[in-house]
Amino acid sequence: MEITGHTRLLAILADPIHHVKTPQAINGYLRAHRLDGVLVPIHVAPEALETVVTGLRAMKNLGGFVITVPHKTAIAALCDTVEPHATAIGAVNCVRRNADGTLSGTMLDGLGFVEGMKAHGINPRGLRAYLAGAGGAANAIAFALAEAGVTHLTIANRTREKSDDLAARLAKVHPGLPVSTAPTSVAGYDLIVNATSLGLREGDPLPLDVSALEPSQIVAEIIMSPEMTPLLVAAKSKGCRIHLGRPMLDAQLALMTAYMGLRT
Ligand code: ATR
Repeated sequence: MEITGHTRLLAILADPIHHVKTPQAINGYLRAHRLDGVLVPIHVAPEALETVVTGLRAMKNLGGFVITVPHKTAIAALCDTVEPHATAIGAVNCVRRNADGTLSGTMLDGLGFVEGMKAHGINPRGLRAYLAGAGGAANAIAFALAEAGVTHLTIANRTREKSDDLAARLAKVHPGLPVSTAPTSVAGYDLIVNATSLGLREGDPLPLDVSALEPSQIVAEIIMSPEMTPLLVAAKSKGCRIHLGRPMLDAQLALMTAYMGLRT
C-alpha cells in the first residue's frame, strides 16, 4: 500500500534497534488487513527517551508506538495513563497517542499469549496453571492468566526471590487467586507454560522436569525459534497437547495495531 497524507504513523522505540522484527511483522499485518498505517523503527538511547516522546506527542498523525528493550520500564512515567496490570508488572510495551496528545500505555505480552491460546481453542478459564519463569515475559503472562480466570497458579523460577516478588504483586491485583512459588513437579496441573528463556539455545537444559507430564496436560511455549523446543518435543512424546510460541506474536500484532487505533 502507498504511504499518503492519510497514512497513520506508528513506531517502535528501542536501543539497539537493528535486530527488531516488529516493523516487518506489523507492516505485514497492516498490508494483509488493508489498514492505512506504517510502522518505522526509531533508535532512541535511554537518555533521549523523554525528548523523543515529547516530540511524538506533538505528532498529530501518530497512532502510537511499540516499546522494547531498554525502555519498557522508563516509558511508564512518560505516559499520562497506564493500565493497572502494566503498572503492577512494571512494564509498558505499547503506547497510544490520543487525539488530545495524551499518551496511554499498556502491556500486551500476556494478553497476546492468552489470545493466542484462545485462537487455538484453549481457554485458560478454570485451569490449574504451572508457569516456569519469573522474568519479563513470565510477569506479563502471570497477570494475563490470572485475568483469564485460572483457578490456581504456581510460579516456578530458578531465583525464588523473583517468583515471590511476582506472587506478591499478583496478590494485590488478584487477591482471590491461590498462587504458589514453592518448588513442585508439574503433576496435577492442566496447563504448563514455559516462560523462561530455556529452549532458545541448543543444549539448554529443560525448563522443568518432564518425567511427570501426562497426556491430559497442555504444554505451551513462548519461544518461537526453534518452533519445536526440546520441552515441546518431550511433551508431544508423552501425549500432551502442545501449544507453539508463534500464536502469541500473531495475537499481539492484532492487539497492538488495535490499541494504536488501527482496527480491522
Ligand atoms: P524475558 O524478558 O525473555 O522473560 P528475563 O526477564 O531475562 O527474559 O527472564 C528469563 C527467565 O528465564 C527467568 O525466569 C530466568 O530465571 P532467573 O529469574 O532465575 O534468572 C529464566 N532462566 C534463564 N536461564 C535459566 C537457566 N539456565 N536455568 C533456569 N532458569 C533460567
